[in-house]
Amino acid sequence: MAASSMAKTEESEARERLIVALDVATAVEARWIVDELRSEVVAFKVGLQLFGSAGPSFVRELTAAGHKIFLDLKFHDIPNTVAKASVEAARLGVWMFNVHALGGGEMMRRAFDEVVAFCETEGITRPKMVAVTLLTSSDESTLQEIGISGDSESVVVRLAGLSNFSGLDGVVASAKEAIQIKRVLNEDSLIVSPGIRPNAATKDDQRRVTTPGVAITMGSTHLVVGRPILDAPDRLAATRSIISEIRSSISN
Ligand code: C5P
Repeated sequence: MAASSMAKTEESEARERLIVALDVATAVEARWIVDELRSEVVAFKVGLQLFGSAGPSFVRELTAAGHKIFLDLKFHDIPNTVAKASVEAARLGVWMFNVHALGGGEMMRRAFDEVVAFCETEGITRPKMVAVTLLTSSDESTLQEIGISGDSESVVVRLAGLSNFSGLDGVVASAKEAIQIKRVLNEDSLIVSPGIRPNAATKDDQRRVTTPGVAITMGSTHLVVGRPILDAPDRLAATRSIISEIRSSISN
């Protein structure tokens, strides 16, 4: 392959690995950010705050415009409710959505099976389904507080194995656990990591943070980045710098 086309492939691979979290209050702000970053960013995450204010119609607007959307609503309820909610996520045309592994194997399996059946009937591409293991804002003291014994790493690995066994495509987990998690997942499973900080200076409320380059090296397949881009004085420059860090880690 010619050097220039190889560079282009690496560049687009790096872009595919970044998911920008649209953690803002309104569709107006989110549209502004999407427009600002659309030349660099392929995938955006819609979470609880934005979904609560802008709703499914805004998600449809983004998917119709060709953006890959990760719907981060972390479903955790009885199996029937999560399965029905998952079918609605698939109906919105999102690229990826998540459930909470703490909801258990039956909950994840039911959701997976109903989404597969729905997508087959409708002839649509099945969204990627990933499980949240432990939130990256949690650590041992949080686990202790809620009565879960064991260190966070072994809890994360156990939940990752359960989600894999339940048919899911991967997990949302800190890059710090990626090496251990990989052992209980399939070769092509996704490891979607939030808690990314370009320089370890500001952690905000995240406790287990990693730089973009280290996260890729440790095995994260996708990085979710919110505040380091949203709060940057120049969002596009912050995005480009993260993509370039991802790219150098992929090619190393
Ligand atoms: O601003 P920051 O980069 O910390 O944003 C991280 C994003 O990833 C937030 O939208 C948060 O809800 C989400 N997230 C997380 N930890 C998880 C799952 C999702 O921080 N385990």
